[in-house]
Amino acid sequence: MEQHMPRFRRIREQDFLEIMRLAESCDPIPLERDSIYHLFTRHFGDTCFVAVDKGRIVAFLLGIISQTNRRIGYVHNICVDPNWRRRGIGRRLYQRFMSKIVDQGCRRVFLIVNPANIVSIEFHKRLGFRECLDDELVELGDVKAIRDYNGPGKHMVVLWRVASS
Ligand SMILES: CC(C)(COP(=O)(O)OP(=O)(O)OC[C@H]1O[C@@H](n2cnc3c(N)ncnc32)[C@H](O)[C@@H]1OP(=O)(O)O)[C@@H](O)C(=O)NCCC(=O)NCCS
Repeated sequence: MEQHMPRFRRIREQDFLEIMRLAESCDPIPLERDSIYHLFTRHFGDTCFVAVDKGRIVAFLLGIISQTNRRIGYVHNICVDPNWRRRGIGRRLYQRFMSKIVDQGCRRVFLIVNPANIVSIEFHKRLGFRECLDDELVELGDVKAIRDYNGPGKHMVVLWRVASS
C-alpha cells in the first residue's frame, strides 16, 4: 500500500513560529535565533518550502538564491519531524527547491553541514551532493571538512551538486 504523504507548499510568513518549534525537535541541527526563521519566511519565501499534514507542518527547507552569484542556490537548513523521516520527504523538499531555482537560472547548489551530522551527510550524498575539496581540509574520520570555515576550530563540511529539477 502506498504511504500517506503530506502536502508540499511554499512557506508563508506566519509559518515561522511553527517551524521554530519543529526545529527544536530536529536534533542535531543548531537552533537559530528566532529572527532568522522570521527573516526566511518573510523575505525568502520564494525558495523555502514546507510539508503539511492535517494542518501541521512536519518538515521545512529554508533556501536562497545567492545575491552575489545568481547561478548559485544555497540551503540554509532542512528539517523533517523525526516521526516522518525515511519516507522521501526530505528528497521531495529538495525537488521543490531545485525546480524553483533552476527556473531562476541556478546551476549549482551548496550547503554546509557540521562534520558530526553523519545522517545529514549521508542523506545529501544519496541526493547527489559531493564534498568541496578545493580548500584547506581537515579529515575527521571518513569526513572531509573545510578548516575554520565558520571561525577558528569550526570546521564545516561544504557539500555541492549541480542544480537540476
Ligand atoms: C536529514 C533529513 C532532512 C533527511 O530527511 P528524510 O525525509 O528522512 O530523508 P528521505 O526519506 O527523503 O531520504 C532521502 C535519501 O536519503 C537517505 N537517508 C535518509 N536518512 C538517512 C540516514 N539516517 N542514513 C542513511 N541514509 C539516509 C534515504 O535512504 C534516501 O535514499 P534513497 O531515496 O536513495 O533510498 C532528516 O533526517 C532530518 O531532519 N535530520 C535532522 C535535521 C538535520 O540534520 N538537517 C540537516 C542540516 S544540514
